[in-house]
Amino acid sequence: MQGPMLESVFGLFSKDLGIDLGTANTLVVARGEGIIISEPSVVAVYKGTNRIVSAGKGEAVGERARQMLGKTPDSIVAVRPLRHGVIADFEICQAMLAYFIQKAHGQSRFARPRLIVAAPSGITTVEKRAVINSAERAGAREVRLIREPMAGAIGCGLPVREPRGSMIVDIGGGTSEVAVLSLDDIVEASSLRTAGDEMNRAVQDHLRQVYNLAIGEHAAERIKIEIGSAYRLDEELVKEVRGKDTVAGLPRSVVLRSEEIREALAPTFQEIVRGIQATLEKLSPELHDDLYETGITLAGGGALIRGLDRLVARETGLPVRRADDPLTAVARGIGMVLEQLDNYWHVLEHAHEFA
Ligand SMILES: Nc1ncnc2c1ncn2[C@@H]1O[C@H](COP(=O)(O)OP(=O)(O)OP(=O)(O)O)[C@@H](O)[C@H]1O
Ligand SMILES: [Mg+2]
Repeated sequence: MQGPMLESVFGLFSKDLGIDLGTANTLVVARGEGIIISEPSVVAVYKGTNRIVSAGKGEAVGERARQMLGKTPDSIVAVRPLRHGVIADFEICQAMLAYFIQKAHGQSRFARPRLIVAAPSGITTVEKRAVINSAERAGAREVRLIREPMAGAIGCGLPVREPRGSMIVDIGGGTSEVAVLSLDDIVEASSLRTAGDEMNRAVQDHLRQVYNLAIGEHAAERIKIEIGSAYRLDEELVKEVRGKDTVAGLPRSVVLRSEEIREALAPTFQEIVRGIQATLEKLSPELHDDLYETGITLAGGGALIRGLDRLVARETGLPVRRADDPLTAVARGIGMVLEQLDNYWHVLEHAHEFA
């Protein structure tokens, strides 16, 4: 399909939406408005149903549902419908998408919004269909996919259109995506199942093994964010945490040092570094040469880990920079595509290609 045609297909006056459907966070961007929704990808449903729990004045999706994780009575389950970047619970994902689409679309519910969804580069054709079906049943039409690293690279302002290689490493909740882009396409990519969730688990394991202390996923994430690091810190940090003693079954607190958390997280960083190195090995000498100038850009929430840029630079010998506002890079990229569809139509994947 040609650019101008696609432009007319998408229409200038309707509310075109884009969704970064992430394992940890879902962001919705509207053409001409930027990011309008940013919430955790969590839904609370009544057990055995796909009915979203109503909580106070609204429905338990996003932040409201996240607060329920680990605290629900038997009749309610708080679920994260995506794991490792793909839909693990189709029906609930659909309910979540429907909620976000409706919220974003506001009053004008008679017109079904057109939608661009960012999908991990590694997903299979079947999984792509699942994303599209989910979005269509949730009320969207003309769903187009864009590969997540492509959207991220556009959002980071990388020269994706030029015959010049650049690399993005998007470390999300469920997946870390390593991709090299040139001439509007992905030259080389790999999708690792080691990302933020895995780091949280490493923190939980550490506390259990060293202190016999059990903590929840969210508490582990707080520790990672507050004192986690990938490289020696100028000033090391400490944090007091409370948990449940796994022997006595009672509440107890310990004081953690950033050094021990860095050590606990090290295997996940090594995994990510290995993924980057494996991708580099596959590149032509010309692309290698480009990367000495364009470097590696870190995006996704995991890019915020202290010192990860330094670690990756040391291990690859390439210049590394962290994207500005890495949590919104993919959504901002989709936003730019929505604004300039005739410029970017060929970075979208077309449904008929995998129907
Ligand atoms: N300051 C921080 N330091 C370290 N990690 C962080 C920080 N802020 C957020 N994160 C982590 O980033 C992850 C979420 O990032 P992001 O929103 O990019 O993921 P996602 O797009 O939902 O996931 P995916 O792309 O894998 O589907 C979470 O694991 C979160 O704990
Ligand atoms: Mg993501």
